[in-house]
Amino acid sequence: MTEVRFPNIGDYYLQPGLAEKEERGWLSQGLYKKYWEIVQAAWEAISPGYRPKKVLELGCGSGLLASLLPSEVDYLGVDINKRFLEMAEARNPTRRFAQEDVRGLTIGKLRAKHGFRADFVMAFAFLKHFPLDSWNETFQQLLILAPYSLFQLQVTPMGDVDDGVEFHHVSVEHARIDHCIGRAQREVLAVWTTFEGTLGDGKTLMRENTYLFQESVEGPEAKEVSLDEQMSEPSTDSDESTP
Ligand SMILES: C[S@@+](CC[C@H](N)C(=O)[O-])C[C@H]1O[C@@H](n2cnc3c(N)ncnc32)[C@H](O)[C@@H]1O
Repeated sequence: MTEVRFPNIGDYYLQPGLAEKEERGWLSQGLYKKYWEIVQAAWEAISPGYRPKKVLELGCGSGLLASLLPSEVDYLGVDINKRFLEMAEARNPTRRFAQEDVRGLTIGKLRAKHGFRADFVMAFAFLKHFPLDSWNETFQQLLILAPYSLFQLQVTPMGDVDDGVEFHHVSVEHARIDHCIGRAQREVLAVWTTFEGTLGDGKTLMRENTYLFQESVEGPEAKEVSLDEQMSEPSTDSDESTP
């Protein structure tokens, strides 16, 4: 099993100055603008003109993507890191942000604690931080937070990358992703991004992007699921048979 140097990635980002340094990289790469294009394409894929009313962003970081969302969208951004949340609030004074470790996040908790019931959940540059031995369980749990999901999932021909500070589990195989989506029984609008290059030295190179949208996504009204159904936990078998 791969050793994760910072088992709680929040600890890593809480080191002095690291959040600011990380954000400088995000701003200079400008990926959040690309993410916004992908989000809009995903909404169009659900149905032309579709706009979710309530959007939940997992691992929202410093609120860069939130700053591009239309003002009428009710948004909740969650992140484990307090410093990123302060930056996000400063950038988006009218938006809501909350400190949460998403590994404990459920629809019930979102409702009880934040009065929020998402109809669209999204996460970018996020799922790579979860150890692969519990990745399936985490992903399945996140998939059922909303009827529609958009996740950036990184796969690479290079295998996992250690950037000298932390481990990035970038080689999540398609079979594993398909397995989790099947178990969660949710429509997922997934983004597969293939990175080729080196993380951590300022030279991350995005050679190829492949956006895969579910072909048979139904209209939003067809996705209304009862609260009981949404509250039901995904099956938690060990997934040992999957890649
Ligand atoms: C690489 S950053 C991406 C930030 C943002 N999504 C973006 O693309 O600019 C990963 C983010 O996930 C957050 N994060 C990592 N593990 C988390 C967890 N278990 N619960 C909530 N947030 C987490 C980090 O604090 C960080 O803000």
